[in-house]
Amino acid sequence: MPRVENEIGIVNSTVENYLFSLVTKRDKVLFDLEEDARKNSVPIIGPLVGTVISQIVRASGAKRALEIGAATGYSGIWIARSLSGKQKKLTTIEYDEKRVELATLSFKRAGILNFVEMLQGDAREIVPELARRHKESYDIVFLDVGDKTLYTDLFKPCVSALREGGFLIADNTLWGGQVAVPSDNGPETTTIRKFNSMVFSDKRLEASIIPLRDGFTVAYKKPAS
Ligand SMILES: C[S@@+](CC[C@H](N)C(=O)[O-])C[C@H]1O[C@@H](n2cnc3c(N)ncnc32)[C@H](O)[C@@H]1O
Repeated sequence: MPRVENEIGIVNSTVENYLFSLVTKRDKVLFDLEEDARKNSVPIIGPLVGTVISQIVRASGAKRALEIGAATGYSGIWIARSLSGKQKKLTTIEYDEKRVELATLSFKRAGILNFVEMLQGDAREIVPELARRHKESYDIVFLDVGDKTLYTDLFKPCVSALREGGFLIADNTLWGGQVAVPSDNGPETTTIRKFNSMVFSDKRLEASIIPLRDGFTVAYKKPAS
């Protein structure tokens, strides 16, 4: 199986290639989506991050997950396959109609369409609405919306949709390492820096950023008492 090499560049490329030489084997559905992502520049999480997220979902016994930014369905498959129980369900949001079709096809190929709810539309409208209707009911919220300047706006509804004891996971939170460069004041860098401060200063959350690929945040929502 060919490797995905030097995806973003935070991790030293020799080390990253070594990690890819060890990475969990994927089935044809995931592999085809990785190939497609390379050819068509779809920014998927890739197998290294996919494996860690899958482990978090499994270890926490998550039944219900909310994903923001489905793209072609790659990360959704990693998450959905790791959910447990008869009531398991992944709700995933995607703005782009073509990608909604592609993701639906991927979920069908992966044999998980029966417990995936695919919502087409703008996360700015859908996430606050879901947070109101299903307050504190998701075990996992995975934030990976393509427009990173929305991260700060989506922080509050994401945390409110998450149950106590659940995990908020957010991708790209080191933004190619640029968040650590004070002179970078671009809109994405500034928003992600602010998002990171919001996550780390929120007393309900216990957070870490894992410096793999583009960096991703894992934040545990602590029980109130
Ligand atoms: C980084 S990609 C998601 C990758 C996917 N999570 C994976 O790893 O396989 C981000 C996606 O968010 C979508 N997107 C961008 N702005 C959006 C919005 N306002 N609402 C919903 N989806 C949006 C893009 O069309 C894109 O497909």
